[in-house]
Amino acid sequence: MTFDAHPRSSLIVALDFDSLNSAVKFAKQVADLVGMFKIGNQLFTAAGPAAVREVAALGPGIFLDLKFHDIPNTVAGSVLSCAAMTGVQLVNVHALGGHAMLHAAVQAISAGQPMGADRPRLLAVTILTSMDQKTMREVGIGGPPKTRVVQLAKLAKTAGVDGVVASVQEARAIRKACGRDFLIVTPGVRPGQDPAAMKNDDQARTATPTEAIKAGADFLVVGRPILAAPDPRAAAQAIGCAL
Ligand code: C5P
Repeated sequence: MTFDAHPRSSLIVALDFDSLNSAVKFAKQVADLVGMFKIGNQLFTAAGPAAVREVAALGPGIFLDLKFHDIPNTVAGSVLSCAAMTGVQLVNVHALGGHAMLHAAVQAISAGQPMGADRPRLLAVTILTSMDQKTMREVGIGGPPKTRVVQLAKLAKTAGVDGVVASVQEARAIRKACGRDFLIVTPGVRPGQDPAAMKNDDQARTATPTEAIKAGADFLVVGRPILAAPDPRAAAQAIGCAL
């Protein structure tokens, strides 16, 4: 990790809420236990940049998970706007946008940062952790997830991207292919792997927090296992202990 503001934990909690009030109320309960908060499309669409301002004011950095996938010029503009928001430490785009789009995002990431701030890091989403080989085939992506994910990680690295979002199942292979300094952020983390709970889960390529760290993940993104827990603090602490 080379961020100036060193996160105190590898845990990133996904604030998947439909209102800023609920998100901030929840975030306050666990702010001292997390390395970053993730603001995704749901909260950002509902509340806009105010979400970044209010959540960043709680202390932890922000992973602004808007997963841009558009023509290079539009993605560059969007990344520039993200980078200009104080507190944003991670921004992401889809690797499937290709080299030119990734490269445009790389060039934009440094340009919009506030004076004196460490620049945010740019991540590329490889293949969503909700997809398995069957769903990949539906959209014309052949071969096993690991092969495609590593290929996309290498493409992102070649374009100058700082790291990837991928499942734990591919983390070792990505580390081997892309080296020690390449950031690996893994969603699809499920602490208990309770089969009953997993039945209605949209995540397909999952793993426990311990497996994620052993596989070489730098950060773990966790949403529902903490948001929906009867005691979110205890759930965050239990995951934190596994890291
Ligand atoms: O609730 P859960 O732990 O599945 O939340 C995972 C979070 O990570 C969600 O906010 C989801 O949008 C995000 N994410 C993901 N897979 C990716 C990238 C981001 O699940 N490839």
